[in-house]
Amino acid sequence: MSVQSTTRRKTAPDIRARKGGEPIVMLTSYHAHTAAMVDRHCDVILVGDSLGNVMHGFETTVPVTLDMMILQGSAVMRGSRQALVAVDMPFGSYEAGKEQAFHSAARIMKETQCGAVKLEGGVRMAETVRFLTERGIPVMGHIGLTPQSINTLGSFKAQGREADSWAPIENDARAIAEAGAFSMVIEAVAEPLARKITQDVAIPTISIGASAACDGQVLVLEDMLGLSPKVPKFVRRYGNLGPAIEEAVAAYAADVRSRAFPAAEHVYDMKTKT
Ligand code: KIV
Repeated sequence: MSVQSTTRRKTAPDIRARKGGEPIVMLTSYHAHTAAMVDRHCDVILVGDSLGNVMHGFETTVPVTLDMMILQGSAVMRGSRQALVAVDMPFGSYEAGKEQAFHSAARIMKETQCGAVKLEGGVRMAETVRFLTERGIPVMGHIGLTPQSINTLGSFKAQGREADSWAPIENDARAIAEAGAFSMVIEAVAEPLARKITQDVAIPTISIGASAACDGQVLVLEDMLGLSPKVPKFVRRYGNLGPAIEEAVAAYAADVRSRAFPAAEHVYDMKTKT
């Protein structure tokens, strides 16, 4: 007997259809427990390769592997019910060619059962985006600042501040949209350029540091909750959980040191959180 879920999960075409409409709400999550909390409020949950920085303490996203993305993508799928889950393709899993990209993306889709993948790059990735979408893999693009290229970029800088630097970024946006992506993240791009791209392309643009001129926004959950040690300046903080966690841990440590920890009255009776 198969078990059918009554909640319909959002799909890539649902997100594509939101162009110019109600802004798209997107956050990252890497775990079942945070996915369950953000699911009700988000249209898209991104299992970002920022998990390399946030969960694993790497300086960049370059060391992140396909297996890491698949493990955390599966956890997010188990924790969520209604949001579209998009999983990042990590550095080295797609750039060598479209067949390599298909093999990696198919593993992500089959092993996590997520609804889409995201990959970085514009014109240079357009052929790959077309190859994947024509073969049943919904692709979210990612242009502007592309963190996986840190070693050739040298540093993370805002893009498109001078109008004479706009053309390559506009070409990237057009190429990804025309190749069949259902949406694209625009990272760290000046507002006038983000607005122009958003007007030019037929698919939703999702800002991270690219302004409200876009069709939606994505933030790293830990950044907006006050849990990350370093946060880009444009990120608005909606919580300050770092100090709250430290305070709770200190209270716990004090209890243990004073032997204030009870035995279970019945074997693992559970209480729900208040
Ligand atoms: O890896 C990530 O979390 C991302 C977003 C910040 C866009 O790519």
